[in-house]
Amino acid sequence: MGSKRLTSALLLFLLVSTGSSASHSNWRKKAREPCKTLVFYFHDIIYNGHNAKNATAAIVGAPSWGNRTILAGQDHFGDLVVFDDPITLDNNLHSTPVGRAQGFYIYDKKDIFTAWLGFSFVFNSTEHKGSINFAGADPLMNKTRDISVIGGTGDFFMSRGVATLMTDAFEGDVYFRLRVDIKLYECW
Ligand SMILES: *[C@@H]1O[C@H](CO)[C@@H](O)[C@H](O)[C@H]1NC(C)=O
Ligand SMILES: *[C@@H]1O[C@H](CO)[C@@H](O)[C@H](O)[C@H]1NC(C)=O
Ligand SMILES: *[C@@H]1O[C@H](CO)[C@@H](O)[C@H](O)[C@H]1NC(C)=O
Ligand SMILES: *[C@@H]1O[C@H](CO)[C@@H](O)[C@H](O)[C@H]1NC(C)=O
Repeated sequence: MGSKRLTSALLLFLLVSTGSSASHSNWRKKAREPCKTLVFYFHDIIYNGHNAKNATAAIVGAPSWGNRTILAGQDHFGDLVVFDDPITLDNNLHSTPVGRAQGFYIYDKKDIFTAWLGFSFVFNSTEHKGSINFAGADPLMNKTRDISVIGGTGDFFMSRGVATLMTDAFEGDVYFRLRVDIKLYECW
């Protein structure tokens, strides 16, 4: 009688504990599937002393050994660049922009190209209205780099997730194009 009771108590305990761990892992699995994916390109034309009309980015801070016309040596360490770049749906600079990528990057490592990004995608089109905010480390030598989607407004209210960056093209220190694969794990 006593041992029977113990066995059923044990069984109940096992059922409860396996049940709860199963639902816990289900929840985690669900949260790892994005609720929305988006792909954009943006184009950064850095001022180089000759392209004031075309430039969409400017060096606004440089270390003592550099200047604000040319990115500094030592992997551009210490340079701070502000940008207002067109966002396109394909990889063509001349496609109609669907929004602007606005923010800054700082080069923050001396012995390898690495930047830190803080910027927003700002949309005001019939397709999208609102903004998506990004932040994170960008180790440029990596083929793909993940940065955080830390929030959003408008159509992207309270969005969070990850954005995978890929350098799609670059021309010296004057132009680069990034492909941005956005995966949102929190959507409203
Ligand atoms: C400036 O942009 C125009 C078109 O947007 C392009 O045709 C031209 O080559 C660019 N000029 C420079 C100096 O980058
Ligand atoms: C900026 O620095 C570069 C190389 O470090 C140099 O060639 C250029 O003349 C400098 N420009 C100005 C305006 O000081
Ligand atoms: C968005 O576009 C509309 C229509 O072109 C304009 O009235 C509005 O001021 C714009 N909003 C922002 C935040 O730029
Ligand atoms: C850089 O790439 C490596 C391997 O390709 C990957 O494991 C790592 O997560 C990447 N780092 C970042 C910050 O994306």
